[in-house]
Amino acid sequence: DASDIEKGTYPHYMLKEIDEQPLVTRKIIAKYRNEDGGITVDADIVEAVNSADRIYIIAAGTSYHAGLIGKQFIENWAKIPVEVHIASEFSYNMPLLSPNPLFIFISQSGETADSRSVLVQIKELGHKALTITNVPGSTLSREADYTLLLHAGPEIAVASTKAYTAQLAVLSILAAVAAEAKGQSLEFDLTKELGIVANAMEVLCDQKEEMEAIAKEFFATTRNAFFIGRSVDYYVGLEGALKLKEISYIQAEGFAGGELKHGTIALIENGTPIIALATQEHVNLSIRGNVKEVVARGANPCIISMKGLEEEDDRFVLPSIHEELAPLAAVVPLQLISYYAALHRGCDVDKPRNLAKSVTVE
Ligand code: G6P
Repeated sequence: DASDIEKGTYPHYMLKEIDEQPLVTRKIIAKYRNEDGGITVDADIVEAVNSADRIYIIAAGTSYHAGLIGKQFIENWAKIPVEVHIASEFSYNMPLLSPNPLFIFISQSGETADSRSVLVQIKELGHKALTITNVPGSTLSREADYTLLLHAGPEIAVASTKAYTAQLAVLSILAAVAAEAKGQSLEFDLTKELGIVANAMEVLCDQKEEMEAIAKEFFATTRNAFFIGRSVDYYVGLEGALKLKEISYIQAEGFAGGELKHGTIALIENGTPIIALATQEHVNLSIRGNVKEVVARGANPCIISMKGLEEEDDRFVLPSIHEELAPLAAVVPLQLISYYAALHRGCDVDKPRNLAKSVTVE
């Protein structure tokens, strides 16, 4: 049928969409490039970002995880304070808003009801909204003042993959362009570094056998799994855990490395899989300290590090890319490992039980 044609030779949409990430990243660079080879975003959007005294990112699921990393880009580069909120919680726990806020809605589908209800609420208050979405003409896009498109192509698998990395790429571009407009240019060439990310994604997508081996080794029969990281690695771990639980039904949780000792370490038993991310030099020693703590309690560690920071027992080493963009590449092995874990556990990868691609009810 038609869907089989779209899948091409792939057994699942999810695998196809994971593989499309290098291409999507390159497409985003091309879409946001200006004549001088730099990057550009509509002037009115840049103006809206830079005139805000605070940015509120609203999203759900994987898009929320992208928002956590987007906050780092915007705060580090454009120097605007950012809060990231789960859409469904925002209405009850509405923070005290700053005098001049900008709301950024991140939504692959542009149809998530929880996010839309926040959009309606903040529009009534007279605030401005930017939607970052994969679907032109979607509800969140139509009802916001501004839209930035992900250009990721249709995402069919319920578990989001290429939309997540596209969200990170677009957020990085928005943050860099806003910084530049304020005269605070980045210390590196974002276009070039995103190109390096795309190449790294390609290398990672070519290492499927290794990912399958890791999935079999760590997730064949386990009941639970933990992802740990510090700084942005923590946020990538949250996304890795979400992927694993969505499609393989393994109870997976992401934790900040430093928070383990405050509770979660009680759950470590003999053989509990711990996926530790080590892509950030400034926290490398601390995260490796956390790994030692869990190993001493019997955990089965799978350390995923980045070239330049690797140590002897690391299970997998990512190609070297700019540290601040590491999440765009670090998530790829986590997506693939989840895919193979689900596959070998006989789960319906593209249509996991109880989940919908876009949730249009609150
Ligand atoms: C659903 C999907 C998730 C997605 C979330 C937010 O729960 O199953 O994969 O991350 O909605 O969707 P959105 O389209 O707003 O990004």
